[in-house]
Amino acid sequence: MKRVAFFDAGAAYRELRDDLDAAVSRVLQSGWYLLGAELAAFETEFAAYVGARHCVGCGNGLDALQLTLRAWDIGPGDEVIVPSNTYIATWLAVTSLGATPVPVEPDPETFNLDPSRIESAITPRTKAMIPVHLYGRPAAMSEIASIGARHRIPVLEDAAQGHGASLLGRRAGSLGDAAGWSFYPTKNLGAFGDGGAITTDDAALADRLRVLRNYGSRTKYVNEERGVNSRLDEVHAATLRVKLRYLDEWNARRARIAARYRERLADTALRLPEDEPNGVHVWHVYVIRCRQRDALRAALAERGVETLIHYPTPPHLQRAYADLELPAGTFPISERMHEEVLSLPMGPHLSDDDAEIVCDAVIECCKALRIERTDSESVRP
Ligand SMILES: Cc1ncc(COP(=O)(O)O)c(C=O)c1O
Repeated sequence: MKRVAFFDAGAAYRELRDDLDAAVSRVLQSGWYLLGAELAAFETEFAAYVGARHCVGCGNGLDALQLTLRAWDIGPGDEVIVPSNTYIATWLAVTSLGATPVPVEPDPETFNLDPSRIESAITPRTKAMIPVHLYGRPAAMSEIASIGARHRIPVLEDAAQGHGASLLGRRAGSLGDAAGWSFYPTKNLGAFGDGGAITTDDAALADRLRVLRNYGSRTKYVNEERGVNSRLDEVHAATLRVKLRYLDEWNARRARIAARYRERLADTALRLPEDEPNGVHVWHVYVIRCRQRDALRAALAERGVETLIHYPTPPHLQRAYADLELPAGTFPISERMHEEVLSLPMGPHLSDDDAEIVCDAVIECCKALRIERTDSESVRP
């Protein structure tokens, strides 16, 4: 039986071995490993790719979000609007500063923050909003940015899953007041370890972030404020520069797989993810919905197809957030999603043959398990 892995993290290195080896060797020989020429070049190149004026590298995606909120002076007593369905890092960025996350439910068709629900969550204490480009689909940024402008609330894009995504010709990372990026290895633009960045058009914000990421220091041993150590290493910056050149091509390969899944699985009873009609969805993960999700997942595993769940438990039901007292039933759209979502193998190095194996296995399992149609919820429960 041919096994299909969910994601092949080593394939990018195998494809670009010569260029990557040369980049690493260049850094190792330079004798300069932090805050050097590679980082400066990557920041310039990534800002240009995104269409933002500034890019500030940092240690990981969580720090990118947290440092930006900190630079906006957000802290205890402040509220920040977050999706009820996201990776927990979005919430952790808020709570690590002592601020309060205010969850808003997603649009069940897009998986992204439902803009029509945002205004009722705004209070005088709301100090920021963090829409997430979840699964690689851009959030409804036109609506969200105009709500932000109307209420004078800054918008921080959580772009950890949206490298290369765009809306109406503008790329994720240039659609809000700032954007936090993760270069975790499995991301569409992934490093060989942890990495992150912030993009923004705001020069003063970028300047403060450069200070905050480096112990609060602009000049060695002079500390303006209590910063942190969160830097993007030269080795990572150099390899990210190589991979950035392939991002569009690799996203196009993901889109081809997504199109093939849609075509082949259209006659199953599964609820398939929609493409973005006004822009580019970069298919960080391909998430279907199925009422009998756990049975389907087990049957696919028996046939050698590895799947993942993004995510099994929403943040408000994690023990980490028990103190917020948001019991089961508080966010029904999100809770139902977490019971039904299943991510099929996806990545720029998934071969066409392997994608066909996945489709054959899904179709067979749907028949064998008599998978029933997973209905759309009414727009408002
Ligand atoms: C939506 C989202 N936000 C934030 C993060 C945090 O990024 P990192 O793992 O680099 O800290 C991730 C990824 O892990 C993510 O998926």
